[in-house]
Amino acid sequence: MEEHVTVTFEPEGKTVADSSHTLLELAQGANISLRGECGGTGVCGKCKIKIVKRNGLLNEPTEKEREHLNETGIAEGYRLGCQTKVVSGKCTVYIPPESRTGKRVISGIGLDEEVPPLAPPAVTKVHLHLARPAFDDTRPDQKRLMDALNENAEIPPLHSLARLPETLRKADWDVTVARWKNRVISVGPGDTTKDLFGIAVDIGSSKVICHLVSLESGKTIARAHAENPPQIMYGEDVVSRITYASKSPEHLEKLQKLVVDTINSLIETACKKSGISPDRIYEMVFVGNTVMHHLLLGVSPEIHRCRSVHSGGWITGEFPRKRSGGDPDEWRGDGDGHPPYRRVYRV
Ligand code: FES
Repeated sequence: MEEHVTVTFEPEGKTVADSSHTLLELAQGANISLRGECGGTGVCGKCKIKIVKRNGLLNEPTEKEREHLNETGIAEGYRLGCQTKVVSGKCTVYIPPESRTGKRVISGIGLDEEVPPLAPPAVTKVHLHLARPAFDDTRPDQKRLMDALNENAEIPPLHSLARLPETLRKADWDVTVARWKNRVISVGPGDTTKDLFGIAVDIGSSKVICHLVSLESGKTIARAHAENPPQIMYGEDVVSRITYASKSPEHLEKLQKLVVDTINSLIETACKKSGISPDRIYEMVFVGNTVMHHLLLGVSPEIHRCRSVHSGGWITGEFPRKRSGGDPDEWRGDGDGHPPYRRVYRV
């Protein structure tokens, strides 16, 4: 029969019940700050914790713990979080300040040169007054729209069509159509031709920087940045994160979700700062090292453990939003009349 185990982390005072994970994994799962620079391999020695109360059994200290903590440290109750499991009973663990992932001061401002757009944006908008249906004009909504565009526009994807009748009538046939090249990607009420924005994201292994950019002028409208702290908890350097992500599909998914969540919250911040609705963002571009790309796309970076510069077959590319990770709807947008279709580029 499985033993009932509880672990309380101090100074947070959070208690978790689990005997199958290490203390580092438990802390990560409970969003408790505990360093794990080497990804839990016992190499860095940064995840030092102290067992302050125990009414049960822990696993024996490992060789790696003996190397980092020596016998005196172990006798005083110190252990490495990534090497220690509570096998049975209750245990209270104290995380000393030096073992916490502290907030770093980071700069989110780079060289902001005025660079004129090199090419017209792939997304364009056109404002249309559509003819209302009449006895002598019974064209379906989709045809009415395509006729007004008066060119070889590609048929909108199904999720756009599903909302089209309602959007056109609510807008009294006065709408703005956004197109990615020839493809209709959005139909919304009124004239919103000036609202054309994109997001540029630099995913670093220690920080993520997001610029909200006007697709027309190329100017940055707002910036937001954050540490890549959730991922840092799973390994300071990319090799440690590769090790963690390669352990199981769930680990990979977790790292992907963390970066997607960070990006979404940065988009939200940039939109709030500028007063621009996330629904007006039509394109996203990401830059980052190969491992960060893999994690963002939910592709295993395992091969980079032995071949650091060789990519797993993923080249510069362009992805519909739904292929960029996580729940498709996690990417911001999807407001009234603005279908959740947007291009995502990785370079
Ligand atoms: S030694 Fe535990 S995370 Fe590095």
